[in-house]
This record gives sequence, structure tokens and C-alpha cells, in this order.
Amino acid sequence: MDSKIQWIKDELDLLKQQGTLNRIRTIGSAVGPNMVVEGKCVLNFCSNNYLGLANHPLLTKAATDAIAEYGVGPAAVRSIAGTTDLHVKLERKLAAFKGVESAITFQSGYCANLAVFPALVGKGDVIFSDELNHASIIDGCRLSGAKIIRYAHCDTADLQRVIREAKGGYRHAIIITDGVFSMDGDIAPLDKLYEVAQEHQILLMVDDAHGEGVLGTGGRGIVDHFHLHGKVDVEIGTMSKAFGVVGGVVAGNPIIIDWLRQRGRPFLFSSAMTIPDTAACIAAVDLLEKSTELVDKLWENSHYFKAGMKQLGFDTGESVTPITPIMLGEVTLAKQFSSELFNEGVFAVALGYPTVPQGKARIRVMISAAHSKSDLDQGLEIFARVGTKLGVI
Ligand SMILES: Cc1ncc(COP(=O)(O)O)c(C=O)c1O
Repeated sequence: MDSKIQWIKDELDLLKQQGTLNRIRTIGSAVGPNMVVEGKCVLNFCSNNYLGLANHPLLTKAATDAIAEYGVGPAAVRSIAGTTDLHVKLERKLAAFKGVESAITFQSGYCANLAVFPALVGKGDVIFSDELNHASIIDGCRLSGAKIIRYAHCDTADLQRVIREAKGGYRHAIIITDGVFSMDGDIAPLDKLYEVAQEHQILLMVDDAHGEGVLGTGGRGIVDHFHLHGKVDVEIGTMSKAFGVVGGVVAGNPIIIDWLRQRGRPFLFSSAMTIPDTAACIAAVDLLEKSTELVDKLWENSHYFKAGMKQLGFDTGESVTPITPIMLGEVTLAKQFSSELFNEGVFAVALGYPTVPQGKARIRVMISAAHSKSDLDQGLEIFARVGTKLGVI
């Protein structure tokens, strides 16, 4: 063993000993409600494929048609070598869908977060951040060099407190929250956060990764859900979840979006979304503009599954969205539960510390509009069997 990397081997061994080494399962088919994982056909409760668009015929056709016309890649950074009309079209459509004036796309939601914070704040500025915000928000905030002040989860009184304490000690400020929190499925009180932001004249930003395609009329997201059009300064989003593709977006005031075209580093120093991704995202927005059918089905499925789990005696936590945590407590139990489920043909991931707090390990079930009623019934039946076997219910 090369001594320079011995410490890495030691860390990996430690993770193995602690049972926290992340083992990534291999998928051998298109992602959908049923798919092949490690050679076995399983019922999928893992993906963020809320609307079943990851393998939707309209999206795959749009992608292949676009490849035939434009090829596969943008071949350079947009600000240097030009941008395709597809990228421009997607940005216009996303802005219209969200009811804002302007939008800019990035390679992923993660990149969108890495772009937006360093462009808007830096040394001498402050970011007020919900303590349970997603890692990509945290990384974007850290990269900016601004002071990060956390407030208690979804607690506007605590936000008021930290803002008052910081008053006078900063130049520019941002309040940032996840829209839907992906571990618990709860929703940020954006209407109340808006009042605080207004009172103190602070930029309000929301990362709506798990709200787009899920909340609001026809999946227009958390701003639409709270009827806050024109009041939230920046919406960050991803096309990798409900939209079923990949890509990130920042939407809002055109001055901010124009600034990101000049100063958003992942936009300036990394190539754009690929052609097929961009075309598939356009098809996804078109689909959502035309009909609320998939969003309605997603919610119908979520209510059905949650009610079934509660009836069986499972604790589904505080979720008010299709994210359905099955609270189990200890990580060893959650892992055993997940592996028993897999043996029975259900793919549902166990989440433990540090992804969720100590003692709050869980199985997270992601419901999709693509699940049929018989998929959900089969899932409930298998959860009941495993829950009984392991003494959970
Ligand atoms: C709140 C939030 N922001 C950003 C991301 C990253 O999105 P992407 O997968 O497009 O990088 C995620 C994904 O897990 C997320 O939950």
C-alpha cells in the first residue's frame, strides 16, 4: 500500500466496520416504478421521479429528435462559444412556468447553488440559513465567503432573533431555505419568511428542488403554493427530480439573472447542459403546462400510500408531501429493514446519521405518479410483512 493513501484506506475500513459504508446498487434498466436492480426486478420506492418523467415517451422522443438535429453536446462554455436556441427556449419556458421574468439554467441543482451564493454575497455579507438546508445550499453558502448564521428549522421567531443580533454588522444579506425538506417531507413557511424578509429588507431565496412538479397549481412549485408570485427574489431548482432529467435553474428578477450570466462561475467555467437533456426538459415543461393529471396522480398516490402505512401502524413522521419517511430509530434496524425489503422485491433506501439526526434513522419512500394502485398495494403488503418480522408493527 502506498503510504500517501494509507489514511484513506483506514477511513474506508472504519466506515465498513461502523456499517456506514455507502453501498451503491446498480440499476440495469430505465428508471421507473418497476426496474432491474442488481439483476432483480424490484418495485422502486427510491427515485425522485415524482411524475414518472425519467422514461416518459414524450421526453425520450424530444431528446432523440434533438440529438438528430443538434448532436449531443454543447461543446463549450456558453459565454465563450455561444448558446443553442434550445437552451434559450428552455430558460424562457421555465421562467413562464414559474411566473417570473427570467431564468438561467445550470448543469445541475448543485451547480445552481454553487453559482448563486458567491455571485450575490461575499466577505462582509451574511446568509441566514435554515439549519436543515440541503448540502448543496450549504456548499454554495460556504463558497461565497459570507458569514453563515443558522436559524432553527422553519422557526421564523428564531430567524427574527438572529437577524436582530446581526443587525448593523453586515453589508448585504440573504435568507435561504429549502422549499420542501427532503428528509422529512415538511414545507418551509415561505409566507412567514417573506414577511421577515420584507421587514428587514433582505433578499429571500428558496431552493425548490422537491417542490417543483409537486407543489402549487400543476406543479409550479412552492411560490405558487403560497401565492407569493413576485415576492420571492430567487428560486433555485433542479430538473433532476420531478422533471425526470438533469439540470439546474435559477429563476427570478432579470437583474439577478443577468448578473448570474456575468458572475455565476459554473455558468462561466463549465459547459452547459447537454442537448438531449435540454430538449427533454423543454418537453417536461410543455407536458406540465398542458395538464395537471400527473401532479394530481402523484398526490392521490401519496395520500393512499401514507394512509395505508399509518393504518398498518408505521410512524410516517411530519411529512406533508409525497416524501414518506418510515421512522425506525436506530440505523442498524433501518438498514436491516431496507435489506429485508430488497429480498422481498422492494427497493427503498435506509437513511441514518449524519444524513438525518442520531436515533432518527428511517426508510424513505418516494412516491411517484407512475406507481399503479397495485404497485402501492404490493408495497404496503411487503412493508407489513417486514415490519411484523422485525417487530416494528
Ligand atoms: C434541495 C436540493 N437542492 C439541490 C439538489 C441537487 O440537485 P441536482 O441533483 O440537480 O444537483 C438537491 C438534490 O438532492 C436538493 O434536494
